Amino acid sequence: MNKVLFQTRRLKIRNLLESDLEAFYQYRSNPEITRFQGFETFTREQASHFIAEQKNKFFIKPGEWVQYGIENIHTGQLVGDCAIYLQPADSRIAETGITISHIYQRQGFAKETMQGMLGFLFREKGIHRIIETVDTQNNASIRMLKSLSFRQEAHFLENVFFKGRWSSEYQFAMLKREWENTGNPSRPE
Ligand SMILES: CC(C)(COP(=O)(O)OP(=O)(O)OC[C@H]1O[C@@H](n2cnc3c(N)ncnc32)[C@H](O)[C@@H]1OP(=O)(O)O)[C@@H](O)C(=O)NCCC(=O)NCCS
Repeated sequence: MNKVLFQTRRLKIRNLLESDLEAFYQYRSNPEITRFQGFETFTREQASHFIAEQKNKFFIKPGEWVQYGIENIHTGQLVGDCAIYLQPADSRIAETGITISHIYQRQGFAKETMQGMLGFLFREKGIHRIIETVDTQNNASIRMLKSLSFRQEAHFLENVFFKGRWSSEYQFAMLKREWENTGNPSRPE
């Protein structure tokens, strides 16, 4: 079972596939990529196990992060992955995260994925509020969220301990009505 969650101008967001392994492992084993994420670099075996775990999941059981592949439609290549989590207390509140391979960064892929994700979640899935939490030093992510008009609503001081230190995080959020007022596209790109 491999389903497409949504599509944008250049990208297809769909389940991870076993054939993604090399590309997935290439960036998930890069410490620069996992620097601000709450997990360590993957071994090839962990990457393979992770794909096997995720590949048949689809939208979405509240309380469970599901990871999707981001595929370049024109090349068929995996360029990164994104994740969605619906809060168990109220599944109209979603959390998201995006990773783009170091090879494909700074080409607008994260922004295009997030724009597609906003449309998909707000319009098609009836989501009311989307949250993303980022390390205060993760300038790329912060820039991406601000450029899509996410609102910074919290600054948590030294709230998570990982990779040997206490880190601080910002919480960004967007409500459906804010998205409707931002001028973000009302149809997928
Ligand atoms: C954050 C990340 C997803 C951005 O991916 P990307 O495809 O390179 O981003 P885009 O090309 O779509 O750029 C989006 C915006 O961020 C800016 N940006 C991208 N990388 C940047 C960097 N290293 N420093 C500063 N700004 C940056 C772009 O200029 C663009 O801004 P604009 O819209 O105002 O022009 C990517 O850097 C990444 O995967 N990082 C590692 C994983 C991670 O930390 N993920 C977030 C935690 S969930």
